[in-house]
Amino acid sequence: MKIVSVVGARPNFMKVAPLMAEMRKFPEIHSLLVHTGQHYDFEMSQVFFQDLEIPKPDIYLAVGSANHAVQTANVMIGFDKVLEDEKPDLVLVVGDVNSTLACALVASKRCIPVAHVEAGLRSFDRTMPEEVNRLLTDQISDLLFVTSSDAIDNLLKEGVDRSKIYLVGNVMIDSLCRSREKALKSDARSRLGLDGQSFAVLTLHRPSNVDDPSRLREIFAAIQEVSRHLKIVFPVHPRTAERIRSLGEASSTASHDIIFTPPMGSIDFLSLLMAATFVMTDSGGLQEETTYLGIPCLTLRENTERPVTVSLGTNTIVGLDPARLIEKTADILAHGRKQTQIPELWDGHASERIVDVLRQKFR
Ligand code: UD1
Repeated sequence: MKIVSVVGARPNFMKVAPLMAEMRKFPEIHSLLVHTGQHYDFEMSQVFFQDLEIPKPDIYLAVGSANHAVQTANVMIGFDKVLEDEKPDLVLVVGDVNSTLACALVASKRCIPVAHVEAGLRSFDRTMPEEVNRLLTDQISDLLFVTSSDAIDNLLKEGVDRSKIYLVGNVMIDSLCRSREKALKSDARSRLGLDGQSFAVLTLHRPSNVDDPSRLREIFAAIQEVSRHLKIVFPVHPRTAERIRSLGEASSTASHDIIFTPPMGSIDFLSLLMAATFVMTDSGGLQEETTYLGIPCLTLRENTERPVTVSLGTNTIVGLDPARLIEKTADILAHGRKQTQIPELWDGHASERIVDVLRQKFR
């Protein structure tokens, strides 16, 4: 049973790491890893291979950055050649980035079964490129592995056959569980001068937040206000770094209470998360990690494709109003953490369930 798994961008690495480790336990599985090269900087790619002990990719497509059409097309051309040469029994894709859709589409056209891990998530906002990637990938997948029951409902409404859908839990949480011990030993906090101090973590990279200069300025004004109460660590995504540079904003925004850092590896970042008072973010995965860790998360978006993190977990959708962000941080600082729950099957064993299904299907 030959399985080609695909990674391309930063959030993919955390999802594929536990799956690769699990697949390697079974001699009947011949597992190959393809890295499309959608993300390529050391801090956006290689550091995760080291931190998460992911085997070196068997094939690297080096597509790099480009607009959506060119990037997606380049992945398709490169990946089609891989399928022609390797003739796998299954292509496994994760998440919702351009590489996910591009590889699923190519496999589907070659009539190779596609498994999609993290299927069925919907923000119902088609201005998000990821929403388009999710919708289309799910339509052409043969096995859909979901993290929560709302995803099953979404897929059924879109006409996906129930027999293709498996509720397995969350591979991001598997990855977090695997990294926890190492994160406890990380010295990231002392390197940033945060020992013994309370601090919040900020991440921002959605085009809807960072590509519009006036929106970015508004967010920074609100963050300045929050930083009067506690330090803020801000690992800056390359897209955001570019936008900040073009605004000429970094120097006016930086104060000794906002610590700008380059993007961080997963171990150092997890060590910060585990000690943070709260998190402000527009990332998808962080909404899940904070829910698992019980850390309040303020999501700087108008919607989420992960509603279970709001209904059960620690997530609050703050929207685009900076005043609401300030109000919510004041609430956390005054009242601390609320009683929340970890969603069903977010227990560190999702990849075992997935590989079990794959082995049964191909037996
Ligand atoms: C991509 C994903 C997004 C995911 C995010 C995580 C899509 C449509 N978007 O967005 O879902 O949440 O990754 O990071 O697939 N760049 C570098 N070095 C790199 C990679 C990118 O400098 O290693 C810069 C380039 O200038 C590039 C920009 O960042 O143009 C954006 O990268 P891109 O992969 O196009 O989209 P992301 O914003 O990273």
